[in-house]
Amino acid sequence: MILLTGGAGYIGSHVCIALLDAGLDVVAIDNLSNSNIASLERVQSICGRSLVFRHADIRNEEAIYEILRACGVTAVIHLAGLKAVGDSNVRPMTYYENNVLGTMRLVSAMKKAKVKTLVFSSSATVYGVPRYLPLDEKHPLEPTNPYGRTKFFIEEMLRDLYRSDDDWRIGILRYFNPVGAHESGLIGEDPLGVPNNLLPFVAQVAIGKREKLLIWGNDYDTPDGTGIRDFIHVVDLASGHLSALRHLTKRGVLAVNLGTGRGNSVLEVIRAFDAVSGRSVRYETGERRAGDVAIWYADPTFAKEALGWKSARSLGQMCADHWRWQLQNPDGYRGIEVLKVQERSRDADRHRRASSPEVLSKRRIARPHERA
Ligand code: NAD
Ligand code: UFG
Repeated sequence: MILLTGGAGYIGSHVCIALLDAGLDVVAIDNLSNSNIASLERVQSICGRSLVFRHADIRNEEAIYEILRACGVTAVIHLAGLKAVGDSNVRPMTYYENNVLGTMRLVSAMKKAKVKTLVFSSSATVYGVPRYLPLDEKHPLEPTNPYGRTKFFIEEMLRDLYRSDDDWRIGILRYFNPVGAHESGLIGEDPLGVPNNLLPFVAQVAIGKREKLLIWGNDYDTPDGTGIRDFIHVVDLASGHLSALRHLTKRGVLAVNLGTGRGNSVLEVIRAFDAVSGRSVRYETGERRAGDVAIWYADPTFAKEALGWKSARSLGQMCADHWRWQLQNPDGYRGIEVLKVQERSRDADRHRRASSPEVLSKRRIARPHERA
């Protein structure tokens, strides 16, 4: 039984699928501050399996302890957190409170419940401005914004925790730039308001919700002048969590990059999106965004060595899957909060037929969620 914090979110819902498809049981918790419970209903439809949902906040140590105990949790994947870099500059204390304090409370509850296996979602942003490329795990950690510092402090805290009690097994996953969506088009990234990140913005321009993309700077020292990032398909990223769980057999702390090792520029992403969508994404160029780096991409060697994991999906597939999600859900999860039972079963049947029999549980699709 795996406890997944932030399970209703963009990455969390995809991690849920990876876990359920692998035959694991999941209790997902989320305070729904940046997500919609409909994502988890759809996860159940896709997998043809139920999960347990608890509407809870990671800062509520008592509630977390009760869930760990009552559900018989053996390991935790911790994704809950606030994640917007710009917002973290405006209200840093909210980020420290939610991310750092929240993780402290979660870990205290785990300690009390004697659950000592943890996979934590960190970010490539902990490296700060690259001193060299590709970024390997030995690169100095020099985050340049409060959000990145919350991830850095949590990483340090988890190392201290292990030093104080070497029973812990801790995996720290440093994500590069997660994009795309599940191939069903049923779940994906659903930003509130104006998207901060490139792919959701591009998709909203392609579908006509926004007039044009503003490219933040075309005078970087890169081949076409626009920023370069290591975009990774969210389904590949999700499978990295499963690999991490499987490889946390030895006690210790393991920090691992989850990236592809390839960099693509903003203009390359636009062209790839145009090709799969058959639309032409309008854009214009503006000033650089404060705090942006020109280029980063991962060295994924250690992920292969330590976890036996590597990414599989191309930039074209990332764009195609992101586009399918956008086309099928132009308003994200809004307006579909309660799915009709019939629709759920139809989706489940379709996916059951498409999946191999051994990965699907025979359990019926249970009520979508329970609120604690
Ligand atoms: P998301 O906002 O979609 O998911 C985070 C989830 O956590 C949301 O459902 C939110 O409601 C929940 N949450 C926030 N605070 C909570 C709290 N105190 N208690 C319970 N639930 C809480 O974001 P995401 O993109 O899925 O990111 C998941 C994790 O991955 C985050 O920790 C983020 O920092 C990290 N990450 C994301 C990216 C990215 O580009 N998406 C990159 C690197 C790292
Ligand atoms: N960009 C634009 N216009 C936009 C949005 C983005 O030109 O409207 C450009 C940016 O300047 C950058 C590239 O697209 O060159 C990627 O920008 P994103 O905002 O999508 O991604 P970042 O690399 O800046 O940051 C993201 C998350 C961070 C996380 C980091 C590493 O926002 O939280 O990836 O995982 F830390």
